[in-house]
Amino acid sequence: MSTNNIWTHKGTFLLAAVGSAVGLGNLWRFPYLAGENGGGAFLLVYIVTLCIVGVPILIAEILLGRSSRRSPIMGMRFLSRTHKASRAWESIGWLSAAAALIILSFYSVIAGWALHYTWRMLTGALIDADAATVASGFESLLASPSLLTLYHTLFIAASGLIVGLGVHRGIENALRLMMPALLVILLVILTYSVMHGDMPAAADFLLTLQLSDLSFEGWLAAMGQSFFTLSLGMGALMAYGAYMPGKASLSRTALAIVIIDTAVALIAGLAIFALVFGAELDPAEGPGLMFTTLPLAFTEMPGGSLIGAVFFVLVIGAAISSAISMIEPVAAFLVERFDLSRAQSVAIMTIACWGLGLLSVFSFNVWASDSPFHTALSISAFELMELLTHILMPLGGLMVALFAGWALTHGEIMKELQTSEGWLHTWRFLVRFVSPAAVAFIFLRAIPQIEGYLIPLIGAVVIVGAFAASRLFRAKHQPKH
Ligand code: PHE
Repeated sequence: MSTNNIWTHKGTFLLAAVGSAVGLGNLWRFPYLAGENGGGAFLLVYIVTLCIVGVPILIAEILLGRSSRRSPIMGMRFLSRTHKASRAWESIGWLSAAAALIILSFYSVIAGWALHYTWRMLTGALIDADAATVASGFESLLASPSLLTLYHTLFIAASGLIVGLGVHRGIENALRLMMPALLVILLVILTYSVMHGDMPAAADFLLTLQLSDLSFEGWLAAMGQSFFTLSLGMGALMAYGAYMPGKASLSRTALAIVIIDTAVALIAGLAIFALVFGAELDPAEGPGLMFTTLPLAFTEMPGGSLIGAVFFVLVIGAAISSAISMIEPVAAFLVERFDLSRAQSVAIMTIACWGLGLLSVFSFNVWASDSPFHTALSISAFELMELLTHILMPLGGLMVALFAGWALTHGEIMKELQTSEGWLHTWRFLVRFVSPAAVAFIFLRAIPQIEGYLIPLIGAVVIVGAFAASRLFRAKHQPKH
């Protein structure tokens, strides 16, 4: 059964996809990764990665959604059948569903921290606090399983409610209301940071390239970040793409998504670093940048509590618009496959993520020093979830690229992309060879014993391997072509 949902307007897909893409990845992750990896050097490799991996896979994923017009699992089943490809490709759908479940489980816990900080800022609890007080405030939040569970529950319930109301009444309406408001808040924060922070220092840090800061680690972080921030390999854009009207141009829309997503990350990064430098704090704080460094910067500035609260509302809003895109693909699958009602499907997904999220909650307190995960894997449950994300998203993206690049016919791609022959060939070359090889590099990070010089060699083997495999695939299934 294919879906009956189609976005109300031509532009709604862009709105929804931007809602999915812009989230904690832009406001929390991008600035701290840039801070840790040398600012301008990170930005450079990040933009190169977006061009050779992000954009091509983004297009591929939307393409698969729109040409199947089904939820990711059913869509891949349909496409592999109609293209006489192995049913193994259906695993793209299953992998993406697993990724959605895992990401949302901890994403909701982190978004919950922003709820806490909105509250703290509004009540003026942090006015005139010093560094030690702000840091211990964050620590005591993490130490409280009940507080973390409360915020996690509120966040995931709100996201579930929106999706439960339906594609039009829930998702579309919520996005139409939220996205313009988020844009206004972002501009308010930017203006405030120009007025009260040290913008030249922020620009200098984020935009000047120090070649000596370029590192392999930074490049890998940039690669992981491009998947996370564009919501790739997780079915979100495939599900949203399935609701995209046939006439809207796919390549132009994909480009717009990437440009807006990157602009938001840059603006957020500039604003955050301007405030951090203005308060003479450390830009390389890591994941705590938003929850310890930034609140401290706010406490030192005029009207900082109110602006701080507004900033954390932005974080919550951006996170909700991303969270709904993680619930939708799995909920849509349950509706299509088992004929459940939307409310039932959303409830199943939301409750499952909520339960899994408790593992992350406990990893900060009850299991902080000793847990079943520590014992078995020597990492915490939260770290395990993050690690799985960094495996599942690129793996899903790799398969999406290969399937879209090799299995779809020229005519099908042309119909969806509505672009020039030259661009189509460039895209196809990227998804057939370049993106898969680049993604293969990510996995190499997981193998610390590999010597640096072996990496280009392995990359070359992967390219040749992908080519050979795909030849086989074509020869076997399309003998007359
Ligand atoms: N892109 C979102 C962000 O940057 C996160 C996300 C990942 C959303 C995967 C949906 C799917 O915060």
